[in-house]
Amino acid sequence: MTTTEAVTHHAAPFSGLTITDPDLFSWVQTVAALTEPDNVYVCDGSQAEYDRLAAGLVAAGTFIKLDEALRPGSYLARSEPSDVARVESRTFICSEKEADAGPTNNWSEPTAMRATLNGVFAGSMRGRTMYVVPFSMGPVGGPISRVGVELTDSPYVVASMRIMTRMGADALAQIEQGADWVPAVHSVGYPLRDADGATREDVAWPCNDEKYIVHFPESREIWSYGSGYGGNALLGKKCYALRIASVLGRDEGWMAEHMLILKITGPDARVYHLAAAFPSACGKTNLAMLRPTIPGWKVETIGDDIAWMRPGPDGRLYAINPEAGFFGVAPGTGESTNPTAIAALGHDVVFTNVALTDDGDVWWEGLTDDVPEHLVDWQGNDWTPDSGRPAAHPNSRFTVRADQAPSIAPEWEALGGVPIDVILFGGRRASNVPLVAESYDWEHGVFIGATVSSEQTAAAEGAVGALRRDPFAMLPFCGYNMADYWGHWLKMGERLGDKAPRIFQVNWFRKNADGKFLWPGFGENARVLEWALRRVNGEVGAADAATGRLPLPGDLNLDGLDVTEEDLAELFAIDPASWTAEAELTEEYFGQFGHRLPDAMTDQLARLRERLAQA
Ligand code: OXD
Ligand code: MN
Repeated sequence: MTTTEAVTHHAAPFSGLTITDPDLFSWVQTVAALTEPDNVYVCDGSQAEYDRLAAGLVAAGTFIKLDEALRPGSYLARSEPSDVARVESRTFICSEKEADAGPTNNWSEPTAMRATLNGVFAGSMRGRTMYVVPFSMGPVGGPISRVGVELTDSPYVVASMRIMTRMGADALAQIEQGADWVPAVHSVGYPLRDADGATREDVAWPCNDEKYIVHFPESREIWSYGSGYGGNALLGKKCYALRIASVLGRDEGWMAEHMLILKITGPDARVYHLAAAFPSACGKTNLAMLRPTIPGWKVETIGDDIAWMRPGPDGRLYAINPEAGFFGVAPGTGESTNPTAIAALGHDVVFTNVALTDDGDVWWEGLTDDVPEHLVDWQGNDWTPDSGRPAAHPNSRFTVRADQAPSIAPEWEALGGVPIDVILFGGRRASNVPLVAESYDWEHGVFIGATVSSEQTAAAEGAVGALRRDPFAMLPFCGYNMADYWGHWLKMGERLGDKAPRIFQVNWFRKNADGKFLWPGFGENARVLEWALRRVNGEVGAADAATGRLPLPGDLNLDGLDVTEEDLAELFAIDPASWTAEAELTEEYFGQFGHRLPDAMTDQLARLRERLAQA
């Protein structure tokens, strides 16, 4: 982006690393001329730099240092109550043509959006330091990895980027050596001085009521204004690694997916890798750190949120976790539900919007069975168990290096990634969708991914029981037309041929008529993974059913598990009438994509209907 206004202020002094790449240097200068920071600091990514930033954040009141004995190296941040989550309504895909963003994205005309951004960013960093944050998504220099540079006026973002990405000198060196990089500009939109020189005090969590999270897919640019929180502000994550990278993948023949990655070792020491897509709030972090209840199986973590996948020299699909840390939802994470996550959080964590205990540690709903008698809640107010409100915000988070998880696989940083054997698609479905089904083939698997959905709960707007579609769990994260994205998946399948991973649909959330969960979930989900891997091995057969291939009686390992025959039957029941009704909804849903919908999707819907008619 260029500015037409004359630069009237004095150029801000640079410190930190020296930028020698001329394109990078001139872009940094252009953004500085627009946003008018007092200083520009180029990050090196060192521990000393992080410690300096953290000390500054403590002095500014953004970070509260937690008790050094109870939670070494850790901090609590409290955001503004208006800035607590990703803002999908303010997230824009500004492709040249509206049809290229598709019906599921907010599109805005790029020239008009650039003018708007020029307006809000003008002077937005006055009185602040602009940090230059070079980062690598994926291990530095790996064949699937990519670099980017975030310019931000938020030291909280810089500290978080150091945990979530490979940030600093090594990433900068990649750019200096000629690597393509994605430019990303971020401002909290809270300048400390106005155009006339009048100043104001800073606040602990600066942000702006007006927010823009903007992507220009053709020029691969990200511009984010007004929020300091999570995916709105840590631009390597959803903005780059999913929205922009999905476009790069389409153009270059690879895939950027909202998927966790697991390494699984069987009792015979055979190693498998699995990638799995789930909508937000479906227990993805728990699955990423699964502790199997069945003997002989070992599950290790490679990633908990995003997978970049590319065909390798042997024709198989290889995946890396582009991130270096976990930005996980805290509430519901406890010793009983996810002991591995709890073990990862012992030190060097940034917590945001959780509660503070009287002894200087953190707490959130679900951390312990015992509820502390007194806390300071996420908004800084006194809290007791009868306060009648949650102590931690439901979207409160921990930010921690991935290698602090005891379950991290040694090859989580393998430059070339790991070969994927199995892909899972899951939603939160109280009805219809069985515990597990194998797709008939890749094309059917793409259809399953395209129809991922969750039943609406009472907590959200809309009719309870209505289906909320979240194809491939990518609804808020696909940087282009969703129907074209399905087309890209179909193409990748053709290219991978018989080396393609096998695709399964899973559903941990099916309920009986009384509203009780039919499946215990958590560590028991290993039983489902075991069946899928035994299918891959050709060790077990399957029963053809209308929606996919189901386990044969006795093949799903239920040893030591209390599931009644009746519940088991319900877990796998496929009711042709309600599936036929669901197929109607799918047809309607597909309709919005018009001629962009790949024919294969229409074919798959027709085949599903045929199988249902025969059932
Ligand atoms: C996330 C999400 O925060 O998917 O990872 O919403
Ligand atoms: Mn996610």
